[in-house]
Amino acid sequence: MTHTLLRGRLLTFLRAPQELGDTGSYLYESDGGLLIKDGLIVARGAYDKVSAKAPADVVAVDHRPHLIMPGFIDTHLHFPQMQVIASYAANLLEWLNTYTFPEECRFVESAHAARIATHFYDELVRHGTTTAVAYCSVHKTSADAFFAEALRRNMRMVGGKVMMDRNAPQGLLDTPQMGYDETRQIIAEWHGKGRCHVAITPRFAITSTPAQMEATQALAREFPDLHIQTHLSENHDEIKFTCELYPEAIDYTDIYARYGLLGDRTLFGHCIHLSDREADAMSETGSVAVHCPTSNLFLGSGLFPLKALARRDKSVRIGVATDIGGGSSYSMLRTMDEAYKIQQLLGERLNPLESYYHMTLGNAQSLSLADRIGTLDVGSDADIVVLNAAATPAMALKMEVVKTLPEELFLLQTMGDDRAIVETYVAGVAAKSTI
Ligand code: GUN
Ligand code: ZN
Repeated sequence: MTHTLLRGRLLTFLRAPQELGDTGSYLYESDGGLLIKDGLIVARGAYDKVSAKAPADVVAVDHRPHLIMPGFIDTHLHFPQMQVIASYAANLLEWLNTYTFPEECRFVESAHAARIATHFYDELVRHGTTTAVAYCSVHKTSADAFFAEALRRNMRMVGGKVMMDRNAPQGLLDTPQMGYDETRQIIAEWHGKGRCHVAITPRFAITSTPAQMEATQALAREFPDLHIQTHLSENHDEIKFTCELYPEAIDYTDIYARYGLLGDRTLFGHCIHLSDREADAMSETGSVAVHCPTSNLFLGSGLFPLKALARRDKSVRIGVATDIGGGSSYSMLRTMDEAYKIQQLLGERLNPLESYYHMTLGNAQSLSLADRIGTLDVGSDADIVVLNAAATPAMALKMEVVKTLPEELFLLQTMGDDRAIVETYVAGVAAKSTI
């Protein structure tokens, strides 16, 4: 297999930045080279040194003056909600019942699921996202379409069929046994195939009976290495209804704890309104709170206390995500722009280094996949994004006065979208320019 050599300004994180001046938290190479072979990064460093290692038949791509970073990671979104985006609703439960549940019913049809899967991956790649963690619909057909397309594109993707057996239309319900059996089938058919990872996916406590939660617990015990994903503490009415459904639990988080679902492989979407006790439980178990800023603003769900959760003595692990289609943009740049504004409203600062850490290494760590994705380290998957901070006339004008790397990153986050994504490499192959 031929080698590929990328040239440009390299940026990759080593750890979470402590402050804007924390230059030890990242590596930056102003004239850098990345050598790629068989889908992996095999050398990284100053361009002259890396190019000296390249064979004569290397395919070289010069991306100067653009930034080369690890591909973005989106840790929570809904594959069957591409046509739910921009649905006008007062709040989460109205939005689910009026638009989202009816739309997800359509994914019983394989042809529809396959068509949307094509668009889904096109949008991820167009926006520089190379790994995403997705909810499919309740139908096995939707998970099959999701993973078939991931495999075809050789993308590292995490996903699962949602398990839901109450409080939704008939066409969207499984049973505890069916949810268990189909999840097992999907694991057998897809987990570990290509770069596919199956996640155990009870939608949320409102749509799962105690019997289904037990089935979920059984799956979690049988497959301890799999990710688990669900929703937690997004909206006040949701919290109230949930606690009424599980009166024996002391709070929302305790419901999942009672079924053994807290842990370092579990991703809890939203977590906006956690009590101290719940945050302690998340911290003690290594559970991840996934912040979905565009969704939280769009649905009016609330302001996620990202900085407060991160700086507690018992800190909570944090991921960031689009939450399409409650979320309103596929772009992780747009997502972190809204995350920044939420922290502003809370009187907190989220600096641009932190934002890019979260989109890359931070999200990889929240998935326990940092050995494979989220950095430009040698041995990592060659999932890469190339960014242009002067992608539009207005951005180019602002770039004239930008002097530092954090300023450039902040401009990209504040004004950037898919137009700022010059190229997305999936396992070393240019994927955006070939859509
Ligand atoms: N809670 C349960 N299901 C969903 C969903 O599809 N989107 C959001 N935002 N919250 C949920
Ligand atoms: Zn969600």
